Amino acid sequence: HSLQQLNTLGFSSVAQYFIQIDSEADLLEAVAFAKAENLKIHVLSGGSNILIAPRIEGVVLFINIRGIELHNDALVTVNAGENWHDFVGWSIDQGLSGIESMALIPGKVGAAPVQNIGAYGTELCDVAVCVRAFDLQHERFVRFDNLACEFAYRDSLFKRTPGRYVITQVTLQLARESISVCRYKALSDALAQQGELSPSPKQVFETVIALRQQKLPDPAVLGNAGSFFKNPVVSQAHYETLHKQYPKIVAFPSGNGMKLAAGWLIDQAGWKGYQEGCVGVHQQQALVLTHTGGGEIDMLLQLAERIRESISKTYGVSLEIEPQRFPL
Ligand code: EPU
Repeated sequence: HSLQQLNTLGFSSVAQYFIQIDSEADLLEAVAFAKAENLKIHVLSGGSNILIAPRIEGVVLFINIRGIELHNDALVTVNAGENWHDFVGWSIDQGLSGIESMALIPGKVGAAPVQNIGAYGTELCDVAVCVRAFDLQHERFVRFDNLACEFAYRDSLFKRTPGRYVITQVTLQLARESISVCRYKALSDALAQQGELSPSPKQVFETVIALRQQKLPDPAVLGNAGSFFKNPVVSQAHYETLHKQYPKIVAFPSGNGMKLAAGWLIDQAGWKGYQEGCVGVHQQQALVLTHTGGGEIDMLLQLAERIRESISKTYGVSLEIEPQRFPL
């Protein structure tokens, strides 16, 4: 079964077995099949944050469990196979607030907790109440409350225990009144420009869509996996040294150190718009690597390695790749 259409970077890939999962019952059946045949299980969600291998041995479970349930005023349970952005749109239609600044993030709901998706000042962990997942090791369903998920920047327990859990459901506490923070400069500037000092969730939603469309390539048009590197955190002392040399460097306080905008570093090092055959660095957002089609994942990984070396040499900063290998 070809997975080329199921990874947003658009690399060709073939899976030995492929099973679409439409319910938790389907999941149990597929797991039983894999165990009986002694096949490795690989869980595929939206495919928007993965570096896919050309050939996958074992069985790929494609998570497609749909459904959204509003419990009371603003507590929502959403199944893992729902498209994330469509779910955000649904929340806006319901008059709910909490996830509007995470509009247009590609992928499905089930992958959202894995890397604790975030944009424009909000992360999934700000609204997540609990996650329901199937534990492949002990073969039972488990419920993780927010703390148990061990959320961190683009990280969680699920990311640190690869291959163990299949997320089937996420419950979020949203709100009836606007709880948008809009601290993030690009967003607050754009809203201020429209004269919006206390924007509604819908206005934030629409503004974020416009911002993302300006900078981030649509995976349906140009292969990409969003930010290819995490924004690195350096010590205060290291930041001071860099700041002296590069007064315009973009950074935000983070824990004891400073989080640097990796896009700025890559851009200033001269990589923005760089193209090498069918792989390259996006014209508008240097943190995004692209694939125009027909290439191999190794070409992209080689380019990423050269960028990492260049950033390490220029700024003494080590970049970490953000999308996950598939299979892990
Ligand atoms: N910048 C440049 N040149 C570039 C790119 C960025 O100078 O080519 C500067 C920008 O001007 C800005 C700063 O770097 O001052 C930060 O850029 P941006 O606002 O685009 O955000 P980012 O830090 O590059 C992060 C997330 C994105 C998320 C945006 C908005 C990570 C790894 N990335 O990007 O998430 O959408 O903030 O909140 O944290 C993703 O994870 O796939 C992703 C797209």
